[in-house]
Amino acid sequence: MNKTILCIGAGYVGGPTMAVIADRCPDYKVIVVDVNVKRIAGWNSEKLPIFEPGLDEVVKRARGRNLFFSTDIVGGIKEADIIFVSVNTPTKTFGAGAGKAADLQYWEKTARDIIEHAESDKIVIEKSTLPVRTAAAMHRILASNSKKLHFEVVSNPEFMAEGTAIEDLQNPDRVLIGGMETPEGQKAINTVVDIYRHWVAPEKIKTTNLWSSELSKLAANAMLAQRVSSVNSLSALCEQTDANILEVSAAMGMDSRIGGKFLKAGVGFGGSCFKKDILNLVYLCEYYGLPEVAAYWEGVVKINDYQQRRFVNNMIRRMFNTISGKRIAVLGFAFKADTGDTRESPAINICKMLLEERACLAIHDPQALDNAKMDLDGVDGVIEYVDDPYEAVRGAHAIALLTDWKCFKELDYQKIYELMEKPAFIFDGRNLLDHAGLYEIGFNVYPLGQKAMSHLN
Ligand code: NAD
Ligand code: UGA
Repeated sequence: MNKTILCIGAGYVGGPTMAVIADRCPDYKVIVVDVNVKRIAGWNSEKLPIFEPGLDEVVKRARGRNLFFSTDIVGGIKEADIIFVSVNTPTKTFGAGAGKAADLQYWEKTARDIIEHAESDKIVIEKSTLPVRTAAAMHRILASNSKKLHFEVVSNPEFMAEGTAIEDLQNPDRVLIGGMETPEGQKAINTVVDIYRHWVAPEKIKTTNLWSSELSKLAANAMLAQRVSSVNSLSALCEQTDANILEVSAAMGMDSRIGGKFLKAGVGFGGSCFKKDILNLVYLCEYYGLPEVAAYWEGVVKINDYQQRRFVNNMIRRMFNTISGKRIAVLGFAFKADTGDTRESPAINICKMLLEERACLAIHDPQALDNAKMDLDGVDGVIEYVDDPYEAVRGAHAIALLTDWKCFKELDYQKIYELMEKPAFIFDGRNLLDHAGLYEIGFNVYPLGQKAMSHLN
């Protein structure tokens, strides 16, 4: 084997990223470790702990050959030359910066594990998303070792999206690698470039200074989320003016300077990162004395909350100002299609708001029901978790479609209409369905940012 790579953190990023590296670099040994014994057992089993299209095949090709999942963190640190750190960096819930700043306790713990157990020099790579200038603190902690070992910190943020992780990792738009502007820093950058050069074209590998790399990750997520909030804010105006958000998005997107991607109106962005990364950016701006910049980015999160509230208020208003005691079929709980992940899913807030209004929920999702149960555990109200979409809609007054699963397009809506209470309402929070067809069947249809199609007035 050429070199041994260790990845600390076997989550949504560590697992798939290392599986692709091992698959594409058969000359490297790749070890992925985690403190979570159950997660590691999952990675070593037939049923992987996360659902990602194409992941099973990649893991099966490399596992046991040059890809290993283990709980032996100490052994991994001793053996590896290159250490990726891909632990979680959630929003801090306590103390200074609570609710905004990144909680770096897991990150710092790995740094201390590395100092304690390393027996040789290492390159330590920030794979987690971190506040700009974290590497400075990391350098200081690692340099405090009494063993005279040299640790070089490199930033290599991950841009994959869930649901398309394998495709994104195999064909990335870019790979970003930032390092210190010293000979050791440049050497470490080149070591990381060598890994990606196994399958990524040189022009797609961008090397920068450490701080640009750290900040580019936060900036890219903030810009993406900003597009979603921008289009969602316009969807509210469309509903007031009979403009159609699909037409507005298409017209904007045809401008090559704007581009057509990430302009889909919906119930708001979810996922583990957008909100936490923007709040982290807001915190950093406040910390560095830039309150106007902080307020600008905070607006992106505020519009996201507003869009979810707006969706629920519209449901209540359309359903004769009360949903108390009414059965509502919630189609989709994952934060987006093709994943079972529900972290920060708009469905969580929307379901809580519906339950506060005393609606009775029947939640269906092809992949996310187990997570939905955990997310709503302890929340007051009537909630059923239903594997069969036709059972979820039986006797329902309304459908709230919250995730853009393709399979929801293929349901038999004539049958669904017959199973539901009348008048039957559909609130399409993702503009996924054939609204004219549904209206013809007899539904009262409420898309987002488009004219309502109602038989009631
Ligand atoms: P995750 O929670 O799925 O996984 C993190 C893992 O790290 C967990 O399994 C946890 O047990 C483990 N861990 C925590 N402390 C540890 C320690 N001291 N030693 C060993 N293991 C430890 O998180 P994730 O979604 O994989 O995200 C990881 C990082 O990558 C975050 O900073 C996130 O912002 C970033 N990121 C995530 C995505 C995504 O799509 N989820 C994409 C790009 C970047
Ligand atoms: C996002 C980024 O796309 C990745 O580049 C980044 O690596 C990752 O965050 C991260 O740092 O965690 P992800 O959250 O997995 O990836 O999924 P996205 O496809 O970005 O979708 C995020 C949310 O925005 C979803 O809830 C999605 O439904 C919503 N969205 C997206 C819209 O409402 N409209 C759109 O046009 C696009």
